[in-house]
Amino acid sequence: MSATVLVTGGAGFIGSHTCVELLDHGYDVVVLDDHSNSSPRALERIAKVAGRPVTAAYESDLRDRRALSAVFAAHPVDAVIHFAAKKAVGESVEKPVEYYDTNVGGTTALLSAMREHGVHRLVFSSSCSIYGDAAKVPLAEDDPAGPTNPYATTKWLCEQVLADVCRRLPEMSVLALRYFNPVGAHPSGLLGEDPRGVPNNVMPFLTQVAVGRLPRLRVFGDDYATADGTGVRDYIHVMDVADGHRVALEHLDDDTGMRTFNLGTGAGTSVLELVAAFSRACGRPVPYEVTARRPGDVAALVADPGAVARAWNWATTRDLAAMCRDAWAFQELNPSGYPD
Ligand code: WQD
Repeated sequence: MSATVLVTGGAGFIGSHTCVELLDHGYDVVVLDDHSNSSPRALERIAKVAGRPVTAAYESDLRDRRALSAVFAAHPVDAVIHFAAKKAVGESVEKPVEYYDTNVGGTTALLSAMREHGVHRLVFSSSCSIYGDAAKVPLAEDDPAGPTNPYATTKWLCEQVLADVCRRLPEMSVLALRYFNPVGAHPSGLLGEDPRGVPNNVMPFLTQVAVGRLPRLRVFGDDYATADGTGVRDYIHVMDVADGHRVALEHLDDDTGMRTFNLGTGAGTSVLELVAAFSRACGRPVPYEVTARRPGDVAALVADPGAVARAWNWATTRDLAAMCRDAWAFQELNPSGYPD
């Protein structure tokens, strides 16, 4: 019998790609998603790309404890991958209580249901943003955390909760994966990033400029202490992030307790380098203008990917050109995102 994985937020950007990866590797997948920032259409695309559907998909908020318990009662869940959360940094500053409630409250509700149903294995979606305004890059897992906004603080708090739960409950096995900047799409062009409203993040903004939905990219500052003055990030292909989750599942039983790993490439790319790479991928120069810094931004965030390489012999395999090519393929095939 194949293993069943509950994927919270399974219709979202990273969740949907991870569902395909799991289905491709023989797992049965149950999705729970409230579609507050995802389209139910993603579930149809998952089935099309993987050649088989998820076992079941529930539209529900994680904090609806009765509904959550019913999902665990209906399926023999072996492990949970927990993506479902709010993730817009700017919005989190405006609505901190909603962020704490959804992200931290959602995680504790999930832990309660896991306890109730005897499920001990969890992969948690964490974020490089917990490192905050880092004094140096690359960043290793034991570098100090210093979250600078409520979104990042929710991820840091969840890590603390999970670590403490693991200290008290020795049967628990938790892997927290701190992703750097996931971008790109499934190479088929059928699955990708489809944010609601004007994109916050640079890659979906670039693809929407290239497809004509937005006039030009605003480059937020060129006076940072980086080689060309623009912000440097460690962009990671979403297919590598998905692969990392599948591999994490295979390593959950290496040990009990809480373990934390960066998922990044170790390579930094500036905004201007990204614009140039994306322009090559879409075959036209993408217009941009340099504007003021975005409040809360930091100069550089780059992963030290050494720990996961040593622990699992795992590393990313897709480069920046592939990230740009695949992000563009999705946008070109789906100029308005997933159909309504
Ligand atoms: C990247 C670079 C901007 C938009 C956020 C979260 C993080 C993570 C990924 C969760 C920066 C510049 C951006 C634009 C620009 N995970 N930029 N013009 O801020 O590094 O990270 O998303 O969601 O936790 O904090 O990503 O894509 O917004 O910005 O010049 O229109 O692009 O200044 O240097 P960020 P981003």
